[in-house]
Amino acid sequence: MNDNNLITGTLARLFRLGETAGRLGLSMFLKNLKDTNKIDINQIIKVVENLSRLKGAPMKVGQMISLHEDLLPPEIIEIFKVLQKDSTTMSFSIVKEIFEKQLKSKLNDFLYIEEKPFAAASIGQVHKAKLRNGEDVIIKVQYPNIRKSIHTDLKTIQFILSPLFKALNLPFEKIWEEIQERLLEETNYLQELKNLELFRNTFKIEGLVFPKYFEDYTTEEVLVLSYEESLSFDKGLKYKERHEQWFLILLQLIILGFFKYKILHVDPNIANFGFRENGEVVLFDFGCIKKIPDVISNAYKNTVIAILKNEWNKASCILKEAGIQTRKGEPLKEEFLKPHLEVIEEIFPNQEKYFGEDANVYKKLLEIARDNWYYASELEFPKDIVFIHRNLIGHFGNLRKFRVKKNWRKVFLELLETA
Ligand SMILES: Nc1ncnc2c1ncn2[C@@H]1O[C@H](COP(=O)(O)OP(=O)(O)O)[C@@H](O)[C@H]1O
Ligand SMILES: [Mg+2]
Repeated sequence: MNDNNLITGTLARLFRLGETAGRLGLSMFLKNLKDTNKIDINQIIKVVENLSRLKGAPMKVGQMISLHEDLLPPEIIEIFKVLQKDSTTMSFSIVKEIFEKQLKSKLNDFLYIEEKPFAAASIGQVHKAKLRNGEDVIIKVQYPNIRKSIHTDLKTIQFILSPLFKALNLPFEKIWEEIQERLLEETNYLQELKNLELFRNTFKIEGLVFPKYFEDYTTEEVLVLSYEESLSFDKGLKYKERHEQWFLILLQLIILGFFKYKILHVDPNIANFGFRENGEVVLFDFGCIKKIPDVISNAYKNTVIAILKNEWNKASCILKEAGIQTRKGEPLKEEFLKPHLEVIEEIFPNQEKYFGEDANVYKKLLEIARDNWYYASELEFPKDIVFIHRNLIGHFGNLRKFRVKKNWRKVFLELLETA
């Protein structure tokens, strides 16, 4: 297959959207920023248009961006959502060719492989299959040459975005280094298998299920896992009596992952979670994980404890210890930090409430970002927090949809204690 025509359909759609909505959305968003005279809107439109010419990476970048649905103008989200709905599939003859090349004689261990893809993967597709020993499995297979194409895409995106970030006074290199590292890691399924192994050996959360992996059948481009049946999030929503159980498993995954095991699954795309009527949650997709350095884990934990114990003044010094400070090495100023901490406090109210009931959280974050645009661009932070924050925002958006009512501060503090 020619990988040039792989994403052509998406590009055509993206162009249409990008032309109109992109222009509208970006200009509206930027108008709302204070002091935008330094930003050239035409330059940004160019970036969006150029991005849409690329192949592998924009899909992933699009997934990341559309997770922040409530934080960005709807027009921008629309543009990137198109990238996620890529309906391109490889024909089975190509898939078979890849299997033959990758698995060689081991292909005989498979009784059959379903020709119709079972699910779309971001850089490939998933097929259901059965081993001769009777086990049901899935095979995740990459599009041919996708690694190379992502490599090239990333270089191009860097070339386009770097001057823009510089104009906005944002620390491009740091953020970019991190995104690049994570994206390239995702294109190696042997690495993904190692990540899954690490999770299976580390996480002990009742009701959290990990697929089994098959080392013998896994290569950089082909990953074989046990088939784990479950409901998608949308289907799961119907089973209201299970919401609380599922919610608490996911909350443990995040909180214990962050503060106890110090490893996070940082791809909160809701398709990466499967829900079972018996109350279990299946975790999929170990392409993007993040080991959390001790200093960061400890600093965030102590900050949260400081907020919930009303010792707010301690927070800026705690964060400074984790490398979150101004470029001059000063702790964050109170006017900047306090509104952020207030948002965290509101997410965990000390009374029975539906989680995330107050949708103002997003509006507030956006307002803080606008009010402090230039101060924020003067800050220094470890690159590790890029994916940590993306993950927390993504999970907040997922969890609030379950509408579970509890005293969240109590639940949160109890969980922190076990961490
Ligand atoms: N072990 C499995 N059992 C059942 N379904 C799976 C399994 N692994 C993945 N899937 C399905 O395939 C989809 C894509 O797989 P995923 O690993 O998330 O790919 P990607 O890394 O490209 O996002 C998942 O969202 C899930 O629906
Ligand atoms: Mg996935």
